[in-house]
Amino acid sequence: MSDILSINELNLSGKKVFIRCDFNVPMDEFLNITDDRRIRSAIPTIRYCLDNGCSVILASHLGRPKNGFEEKFSLKPVEKRLSRLLGRDIKFADDVIGQDAKKKASELKPGEVLMLENLRFEKGETKNDENLAKELASFAQIYINDAFGVCHRAHASVEAITKFFDDEHRAAGFLLQKEINFAQNLIKKPARPFVAVVGGSKVSGKLQALHNLLPRVDKLIIGGGMAFTFLKALGENIGNSLLEEDLIADALEILRKGKELGVKVYLPVDVVAAQTFSAESAVKYVSVQEIPSGWMGLDIGPASTRLFKEVLADAQTVWWNGPMGVFEMDKFSKGSIKISHAIVETHATTVVGGGDTADVVERAGDADEMTFISTGGGASLELIEGKELPGVKPLRKASFE
Ligand code: 3PG
Repeated sequence: MSDILSINELNLSGKKVFIRCDFNVPMDEFLNITDDRRIRSAIPTIRYCLDNGCSVILASHLGRPKNGFEEKFSLKPVEKRLSRLLGRDIKFADDVIGQDAKKKASELKPGEVLMLENLRFEKGETKNDENLAKELASFAQIYINDAFGVCHRAHASVEAITKFFDDEHRAAGFLLQKEINFAQNLIKKPARPFVAVVGGSKVSGKLQALHNLLPRVDKLIIGGGMAFTFLKALGENIGNSLLEEDLIADALEILRKGKELGVKVYLPVDVVAAQTFSAESAVKYVSVQEIPSGWMGLDIGPASTRLFKEVLADAQTVWWNGPMGVFEMDKFSKGSIKISHAIVETHATTVVGGGDTADVVERAGDADEMTFISTGGGASLELIEGKELPGVKPLRKASFE
């Protein structure tokens, strides 16, 4: 049994419920939503509340507005998309705790849904302001956090607000519980062999996660831009490839620790190299020993793909965070796409974290075959780093005072 307060242990019947969601979805320049996974993922909790005769108040942030209302950060497009997905009307408040929100929240009837405007239009949100939290809490009898993606932020609607509800009136929604359970199982009792595939551009962003993963995994595959700092640490000439010079010592330490723990660490053996960081650039497939000076590696090469596929073949658990190359450019996306295919071909429990990686998996057409794709970027990384998230801590059962 989970130690997190769960929505299905609360008496919700006919109550007014405030659900903190993470509707921070990517949009194009015309404000069209380009990926609605976070919206779709919130639906089970919303439906459960409606099925229990609740009235539902939804709140989220979108982007990082600095000075109050800005059209491009409005949640209106999210309201439209959710309304379509739910197949029902959603009322929309033009503010967060202003007159419109207050009036609409107080008049909300059972079975009705209200979405507040972007929480970050209120300055107090990112400051974890108790006054804002209190105003938001006054809208409802029950507080549900289903916003996994923002649980690593101590913000008013995530952390401070929990002080205004006791354990009978606050809980995690279904998405948040699922996210926590997958991460906890990975860290505590993974089926073995457990292979972590870590990529993305920077070692710095993943350093803590690598340290926490090493004692837990059987094999570690390192790809993406961050691999070059490791290759450089091993004495390779990496040309103009991405390098975090100040992290060479940390890279060596990770390799040393891996050896000490008996973890097999795999780095790319070849790369797709280009002279400029551009889709128009001519490319060469070269081994990591032969990156010409002035050239940079922008994707793993075919030999690395074959090697990593072999390494993954007997995995029972795979955790993947970070693409293998600059997947946004078609020319440098093959490595990431092929690793995605290799991961879904395993018989492992496969867990994907991070927005970019989720994007790769989507593009590869593998999304339905992954066991779980986390809706969190920073939040899922912090969980793997072994940190307690400020949004989750108040929802642990032991926290009842
Ligand atoms: C995310 O997209 O990672 C979350 O929604 C958190 O957003 P933030 O980094 O702007 O706090």
